[in-house]
Amino acid sequence: MLRYLVGALCLFLAVGTSGATGDRELVVYSGRSKGLVHPIIKQFEKETGIIVKVRYGNTAQLAVALLEEGSESPADLFWAQDAGALGTVSKQGLFQTLPESILLTVPDKFRNAKGTWVATSGRARVLAYAPERVKAEELPNSIFELTEPKWEGRVGWAPQNASFQAFVTAMRVFKGEKKAEEWLRGMKANGAKNYPKNTPIIQGLAAGEIDLGLPNHYYLMRFKKSDSGFPVEQTFFTSGDAGNLVNVAGIGVLKSSTRAEEVSSFVEYLLSPKVQQLFVSEIFEYPVTDAVIPSEKLLPLDELLKLTPELDLEKLDDLEGTLNLLRKVDIL
Ligand SMILES: [Fe+2]
Repeated sequence: MLRYLVGALCLFLAVGTSGATGDRELVVYSGRSKGLVHPIIKQFEKETGIIVKVRYGNTAQLAVALLEEGSESPADLFWAQDAGALGTVSKQGLFQTLPESILLTVPDKFRNAKGTWVATSGRARVLAYAPERVKAEELPNSIFELTEPKWEGRVGWAPQNASFQAFVTAMRVFKGEKKAEEWLRGMKANGAKNYPKNTPIIQGLAAGEIDLGLPNHYYLMRFKKSDSGFPVEQTFFTSGDAGNLVNVAGIGVLKSSTRAEEVSSFVEYLLSPKVQQLFVSEIFEYPVTDAVIPSEKLLPLDELLKLTPELDLEKLDDLEGTLNLLRKVDIL
C-alpha cells in the first residue's frame, strides 16, 4: 500500500512538474555574454512567468552543438553574436520560419530572406582616427585607400578579433577572394600595426602610436562616456564601402521547439522598444527597430542602413576560409 502511495505520489509530482513548468519554460543557447543577457532574461521571466534556461557559450561552438544535436536539441532558441552562425544553422534547415508579425518589426537587411532569423542589435565597423594628426578632409573615402603610401605605418587593426574576421569574410563575399587577399597583403606591406583586440586600438590612437584604426563602433563610445575630451574620433567610409560593415546579433527558433507561444514572446520582447533602448543606452549597440529614442552619438537607423554594403549577412559563415586566408598572407 505504502509502495503504491509513494509510486502514485512520484507519478503525480512528475506530471505536476512537467505540467507546471514544462509549458512555461524556454531553453536558449546564447552566444551573447551572460553579463549582457542575464538582466534582460531575469526581467523577461518576471514579466511573463516563463522560466528561461540558458546555455552560454561561444557563438560558433553553440552553432556546432546545434548541428550535432539536430532534431534532438533541447534548445528552443539560438541567440547568436553574429549573422554568420545563424546562417550556418539556417542552412541545415534547423530553424522554423518566424511569424510575419516578428519579421516585419525589423528592416529587410536585418533578417534573412527565408525569414528564419531576425537581428536583435547591430554593431558597425568604423574608421577611428586621431584628429590631432589627421584632418577631417584628409580622411580616406574607402578602406582600399589604406594601402596607399600616405598611410604607411599609421593604421592599427586587430586580426585576431572575431568582428575583424567577419569583416574580412564580408570583403571576400562582397569584393571577391582576390581583392580581399590583395588588400590584406597591401595592408601588411604598408606596415599595418597589429593589436590584440579593439580596445588597445583606441588606446594606441590616443597614445600617438597610430593615426587611424579599424575597430567596432562602440569601443570609442565607452571611452568617451567617462572622458568626453578623449582625443579620438570615428567616422564611416563612403556609403556602401566594405569598411562600413554592419554585423548583427540575432535570434532564430529551432524546428525542434514545440513552445510556439513562449518563443514568440521572447523574440518579441527582445525587439520591444524597452529592450532595444537598453541595447542603445547600456552598451551603445545599434537598435534594429526605430522605436527607440535615438542616441545623439549613434546615426539614425536609416542612415546606417545606407552606409553598410549591400550583402547577405548570413553568407558571412565561412570563418574557416577567412582564417585560412589570414594564415596564407601571414597575418595570423
Ligand atoms: Fe566587441
